[in-house]
Amino acid sequence: MRDRERYGNGMEALLRVEHLKKQFHRNSDGTYVLKDISFEMMPGECLGLIGNSGSGKSTIVKILTGITTATKGCIYLEGKQISGKRTQKEIGKKVQMIFQNPKSSLNPKMTIGQNLDDALLYYRKIPKTERKRQCEEILERVHLPVSYLAKYPSQISGGECQRVCIARALLRHPALLICDEATSALDVSVQKEIVDLLKEIQQEEHMAMLFISHDLALVANVCDRILMLSDGEIKKIECVPDEAQ
Ligand SMILES: Nc1ncnc2c1ncn2[C@@H]1O[C@H](COP(=O)(O)OP(=O)(O)O)[C@@H](O)[C@H]1O
Ligand SMILES: [Mg+2]
Repeated sequence: MRDRERYGNGMEALLRVEHLKKQFHRNSDGTYVLKDISFEMMPGECLGLIGNSGSGKSTIVKILTGITTATKGCIYLEGKQISGKRTQKEIGKKVQMIFQNPKSSLNPKMTIGQNLDDALLYYRKIPKTERKRQCEEILERVHLPVSYLAKYPSQISGGECQRVCIARALLRHPALLICDEATSALDVSVQKEIVDLLKEIQQEEHMAMLFISHDLALVANVCDRILMLSDGEIKKIECVPDEAQ
């Protein structure tokens, strides 16, 4: 079913990707990593993106977040075209990311409190006491004790670091949270805890989430709809039946 038909209610898509193509300069044989990618996400939707390693998942994310540019195609965020025109900082106001390796996503020389505070300082001028209150509140939202504000990333586990990364993303109130293999580096039991936390937060915040993984079972557990990427193309779109969620 085409996305347009699925959402034939006139509601504006949060994200619209149209005919995205990507060729890296190093692909001197002329091959495209992304051949023709089009999809939509509605506000508050949880969309899965699966595909084997090297299928181009992270390349899509890098284009969406402005880390790299598309060779062809357009991206619209809340109806406004973002490709080319908007800076990474502007995209960052609406889109936040959770990466595979939480420890390397945090600054090891800063405490958890300073890492979180940095996220608040980046965009707006907020008084110090208010920033501290927000950092404490957000740690509680990800079920970590407030005492963790004084710890360094090296003093806490990988799963706890990922909770801090989720907290840091939430401080910026994104309309879209992109999780690129966010649980792949974690132990299986911790993976489930992080997935449950992401689901809980996504529903509470009515935030859209693009959940990327090579693990179909994991994605089917989290998402309403799944895109399958293969050889740089979306091969299949599946809707997860309610009873499977
Ligand atoms: N900067 C780059 N230069 C050249 N090729 C790249 C670059 N980044 C990624 N690729 C290639 O693009 C393909 C898709 O990579 P990627 O998007 O990371 O896949 P996935 O996230 O699905 O594992 C791979 O073949 C990879 O080698
Ligand atoms: Mg990847």
